[in-house]
Amino acid sequence: MTDRGPGRLSGKSVIVTGAGGVRGGISIGKAIALLFAQEGARVAIVDRDLEKAELTRLEIEENGGEAIAIMGDVSADDDCRAATARVATAFGGIDVLVNNVGISKRGALEAFDEEAWSHVINVNLKGALLMFRHSLPHMMSAGGGATVNIASIVALLSNGGGLFAYGPSKAALLALTRDIAVRYGKDGIRANAIVPGFLYSPMVNQLAGGALDEEVRERRRKVSPLGIEGDGWDVARAALFLASEDARYITGVCLPVDGGASVVSPLTAVEMVTG
Ligand SMILES: NC(=O)c1ccc[n+]([C@@H]2O[C@H](COP(=O)([O-])OP(=O)(O)OC[C@H]3O[C@@H](n4cnc5c(N)ncnc54)[C@H](O)[C@@H]3O)[C@@H](O)[C@H]2O)c1
Repeated sequence: MTDRGPGRLSGKSVIVTGAGGVRGGISIGKAIALLFAQEGARVAIVDRDLEKAELTRLEIEENGGEAIAIMGDVSADDDCRAATARVATAFGGIDVLVNNVGISKRGALEAFDEEAWSHVINVNLKGALLMFRHSLPHMMSAGGGATVNIASIVALLSNGGGLFAYGPSKAALLALTRDIAVRYGKDGIRANAIVPGFLYSPMVNQLAGGALDEEVRERRRKVSPLGIEGDGWDVARAALFLASEDARYITGVCLPVDGGASVVSPLTAVEMVTG
C-alpha cells in the first residue's frame, strides 16, 4: 500500500461499520469515517443502508479522501465475509476495524420479546465478532492491526433496563474486546472499546421521537462534571487515538467519552442535576 501523505492513519485501510450519513446531526460512525479519511486512511463504510453509506463516501471524496461504500448487515456472517473481502481487494488489506453499529429498542425487562432481544444482541454483539473474525486474516497478514469497539455508558451504569437488551449487549461487547486483546496481542492486534456518554446524535433524537427537547438536553449536560454535551466528533477523536500508533501500548481498555459522567457518585449526580 502506498502512503497517502501526512496523517495519523496514512496508508491504513480502515472499515467503519454503521458510518452512513443521517439527518439531524452528525452520527458517531460518520464522524469517525470523515476524521479517519482526513488523517490519511482509506475508509470503507459498511452499512445496511447503502444510500446513507454513499452519502458519507461522497463527503469523504469531496474532501479529497478515498472511500468505498458497501451494503451489508453486520449480523449476517455472509455479508461480513463479503464486505471484508471487498475491502481487502479494493485497498490491499485491512489494518483497522471500527465496530460502530449499534441499535436499541425500547421495552421493559418483564415484557420479554425474544425477537427483539435476539435482534439487538445479534447486531450489537455478534456483529462485532463477525466483522472481527473476517478482518482477522487480513490483520494477520499485515503483521497486526487495531479494533475499536463502540460500546455505551450503559455497559457500565444501568439505565433501568428501558432499552431492551441494549445494556447487556454493550457490556458483553466490553468482555469481547478484552478477549480479543488478550488472544491476539501476540499477533500485534490491539482491541479497545469506547464508552460514549450522553451524546447529542441522530440515534438519540430518534429514540426521543424526532428531536430531544431542550430541557432533556440540559439535564443530560448536568449529569457530567464538565457540564457540556458530547457529539460524534468527541468519540471520533478518541477512536482516532486508539486506532493510531499513538496507542501502540494500549489494548483491552475501555475509554469513557462522557464528560466524566461515569465517575460521579449517585448522590453527587442528584445534587448536580437539582442544583
Ligand atoms: N448516540 C449516542 O448518544 C450513543 C451513546 C452511547 C453509545 N452509542 C453507540 O454509538 C454507536 C453509533 O451510534 P449513533 O448514534 O451514531 O448511531 P446511528 O443510529 O446514528 O447510526 C447507526 C448506523 O448503523 C446502521 N446499521 C444499523 N443496523 C445495522 C446492521 N445490522 N448492519 C449494518 N449497519 C447497520 C444504520 O443504518 C446507521 O447508519 C452505536 O453503537 C451506539 O450504540 C451512541
